[in-house]
Amino acid sequence: MPDKATLKIGDKTIDLPVVQGSEEEVALDIRHLRAETGAITYDPGYANTGSCKSDITFIDGEKGILRYCGYPIEQLAERSSFLEVCSLLLNGELPNGDELQAFQRSVSRHTMLHEDVNRFYRALPKDAHPMAVCSTVVAALSTFYPHLHDLGSPERTQSAIIRLIAKLPTIAALCFKHSKGQPAIYPDNDLDYSSNFLRMMFATPCESYEPDPVIAKAVDQLLVLHADHEQNCSTSAVRLVGSSRPHLFACIAAGIGALWGPLHGGANQKVIEMLERIEREEGSAAKFVARAKDKGDSARLMGFGHRVYKNYDPRAKILRKTAIEVLDKLGVKSRLLDIGMDLEEVALNDPYFIERKLYPNVDFYSGIIYKAIGIPVPMFTVLFAMGRLPGWIAQWVEMHHQDDFRIGRPRQVYTGPTLRDYVSIEDR
Ligand code: ACO
Repeated sequence: MPDKATLKIGDKTIDLPVVQGSEEEVALDIRHLRAETGAITYDPGYANTGSCKSDITFIDGEKGILRYCGYPIEQLAERSSFLEVCSLLLNGELPNGDELQAFQRSVSRHTMLHEDVNRFYRALPKDAHPMAVCSTVVAALSTFYPHLHDLGSPERTQSAIIRLIAKLPTIAALCFKHSKGQPAIYPDNDLDYSSNFLRMMFATPCESYEPDPVIAKAVDQLLVLHADHEQNCSTSAVRLVGSSRPHLFACIAAGIGALWGPLHGGANQKVIEMLERIEREEGSAAKFVARAKDKGDSARLMGFGHRVYKNYDPRAKILRKTAIEVLDKLGVKSRLLDIGMDLEEVALNDPYFIERKLYPNVDFYSGIIYKAIGIPVPMFTVLFAMGRLPGWIAQWVEMHHQDDFRIGRPRQVYTGPTLRDYVSIEDR
């Protein structure tokens, strides 16, 4: 690979250094482009823009590869646990036994919310979307921990990180309890991360509740699969907000907001709504696929297509298998899984989807599993946020340690009116 590319604009020529990643991806360093030529790049949706260097996650969208810190997602999904993956993403290495135990202990010691945070929920409407509630509460939590906003102190930063990882399941479960008008169930620090979450969601003060290990394992694997995905929309939001150096909790609240949308994490909810609609109205997968192809129809095949994957999303491949296994173990017959698999088969054999390289993404099968294990549909994206949290935090930490760190501030190509004089109101 040459070490530079040459760009000619009018009578100006600039050498752009070639930057190469550890997996031989190539980027052109345009940092001096505007200063030397007056031009900027134009890249709506940032599809060709590398916003940073990162050691955390590698994706090869053409080959369907996803690795966290070098480890294949397939191995982590099968053999690791969510808290171990959190530690991996935050430290760059798998923890040894003692390190993992210490990490698990500190997370389990910080799961409770300040009582005033519990009361805060009451001010919010019961029918609010849980992503809105979750983002609001995480932002509000920054007001309870102002002293942890101290980037100069690794101890305080670590304390903020542990508290967020520990408290997000409590916050998430309370979003659900609040919507139901049920009392909060306090965390049980003897339970593992996912079992504790399930208990806070589904236990009530009047009945005993034992988290089902099959369901807890499925939740834990879902969290592992969602833990990071390099510079996606919500992670870029966390980095961009973080680049002005506000409280970590404010950055994560922004990430939750970005994840909420149906083109990103909100797609898992939309997939189930689509499958239920097909079951109710359309009758056949082929009919819905025809609608998704029709440019005059706003329907899209939710859970299909990805900005980076032009092959089967490796997470969807794992989740397809998990969906079949979990439903089988629980003895649940899911009509939605049947419809989903029909839909996938029709789409994968259709020239429209083949030509555009549209394959199932992580959201296609995750919703079917959530539904089968009893997670309420509006909570699907909240579980995605719980999974993505360590990735957001790891990227935020990495950004603050990078030599070339600068506040994020894209440019634009202005297309509005040119200079004109103000006209007083009586003359308009
Ligand atoms: N159904 C039907 N057609 C689709 C779909 C789909 N799900 N996805 C893309 N296309 C078509 C587009 O209409 C476009 O067609 P054209 O070339 O004829 O105009 C072509 O495929 C390329 O699509 P873009 O929208 O340009 O791709 P982009 O990279 O901008 O968008 C996205 C990616 C947002 C994920 C898109 O595929 C989509 O909307 N999918 C459905 C929503 C979804 O599942 N989101 C979750 C993504 S994964 C995640 O965030 C966790």
